[in-house]
Amino acid sequence: MAAEQQLMDKIVSLCKRRGFVFQSSEIYGGLNGCWDYGPLGVELLKNVKDQWWQAMTYREDVEGIDASILMHPRVWEASGHVANFTDPMVDCKECKARFRADQIEESMCGSPAYKGRKASKCQAEGKFTEARQFNLMFKTFIGPVEDSGAVVYMRPETAQGIFVNFLNVQSGSRQKVPFGIAQIGKAFRNEINTKNFLFRTREFEQMEMQFFVKPGTDVEWFEYWKEQRMRWFLGLGMTAEKLQWHRHEPEKLAHYAKDAFDIEYQFPFGWGEIEGVHNRTDYDLSRHEEYSGKSMKYFDEGTKEKYTPFIIETSAGASRSFMAFLVDAYREEEAPTADGKSETRVVMKFHRALAPVKAAIFPLVNRDGMPEIAKAIEKDLRSHVRVFYDDSGAVGRRYRRQDEIGTPYCFTVDSQTLQDRTLTVRERDSMKQERLSIDQVGNYLRDAFAG
Ligand code: GAP
Repeated sequence: MAAEQQLMDKIVSLCKRRGFVFQSSEIYGGLNGCWDYGPLGVELLKNVKDQWWQAMTYREDVEGIDASILMHPRVWEASGHVANFTDPMVDCKECKARFRADQIEESMCGSPAYKGRKASKCQAEGKFTEARQFNLMFKTFIGPVEDSGAVVYMRPETAQGIFVNFLNVQSGSRQKVPFGIAQIGKAFRNEINTKNFLFRTREFEQMEMQFFVKPGTDVEWFEYWKEQRMRWFLGLGMTAEKLQWHRHEPEKLAHYAKDAFDIEYQFPFGWGEIEGVHNRTDYDLSRHEEYSGKSMKYFDEGTKEKYTPFIIETSAGASRSFMAFLVDAYREEEAPTADGKSETRVVMKFHRALAPVKAAIFPLVNRDGMPEIAKAIEKDLRSHVRVFYDDSGAVGRRYRRQDEIGTPYCFTVDSQTLQDRTLTVRERDSMKQERLSIDQVGNYLRDAFAG
């Protein structure tokens, strides 16, 4: 098996074993393209989203919003999704599997009898139907009557909830152009082929920000937001060499875009988009004005000008970013054992701000008053940060368990603690240990996480 596939398998297996990510409805055989976040996964995902929210909205020119998932069906006509949000699909006449016609080269035959066979071989043998367009939006019905007049869509992107609320937010918050609106939320796409763990799923989360600017200033703002967004990933410790920009060729630009760049991460299976930065021009607001009949223009009180703003969009996948941070953090390293030998440790080198558990507390042994002291420290810290108490097995084993989930600090209460009220603090990456007074533990963590 290729080393890249092995690495991906190890990460997926760690995710299940340690409670980051589970297959959705696993006991029923799973549901393709859907995943559940376990106790550690939900913390990591929340930390990714919190960091994004903080970076994008704790500033004077961006407001937050949380729009509903179901929207008026005309929204999706105006946006172009009803007409254009399609992928070309082919069916295999023999095994009935469905493929994206533009991804045949990367797809495998769907028949269990032909396991490991390339779909392109089946295509060459003439087993596929002609390609036809398949709309990726999930449809459902609003209200009790399931007829065509009641059709609504599960939103395939969060952006439209921002566009339609542009003037509500602008007037409510008394913002002046240029300003932005940010949103984090679920999006749904009935992808023909889901693949690569969390990379292409049918239900996922997006972190999108739409920045409204005066036409003519859009190129400048586009460059500004490109730089901010790359800086965000780097600031959270992502390996610089594994990040790159990919510019969309003019002929491949989305129907609404004047310019578009993707931030790509080098996953074990290859480079993949984790965020798009798009210059969407005045397309979205103009279309909503046309379809709703309501003016979406902005009136500048200062200059008395009335115009339709251009939009610079930053659109990141929360789920894909989560996966990129997971993959990027994964390391296998040699580490010394207590008896002077060495062993391989798996360590998730998450940025401290992202680590799902911030500190672990251990009593060296379960007697002599050590558990009581360790429990008191745990109780003290728990109201400030996510901590984990572990009193089972050798301390070396406990370190390994925390390394595997990326806990930055482990505090051990030992016999010296009983003498002088100091304990050992061990740092995850360097594995260095130092002694610290129990009274300093809170400040120690505060300083560590402030930086
Ligand atoms: N509003 C623009 C928009 O939605 P997109 O490139 O289709 O643009 C933006 O999606 C981001 O959403 C992508 O960069 C990716 O991170 C995430 N994304 C899109 N489809 C996804 C899927 N099927 N599974 C997981 N994440 C997805």
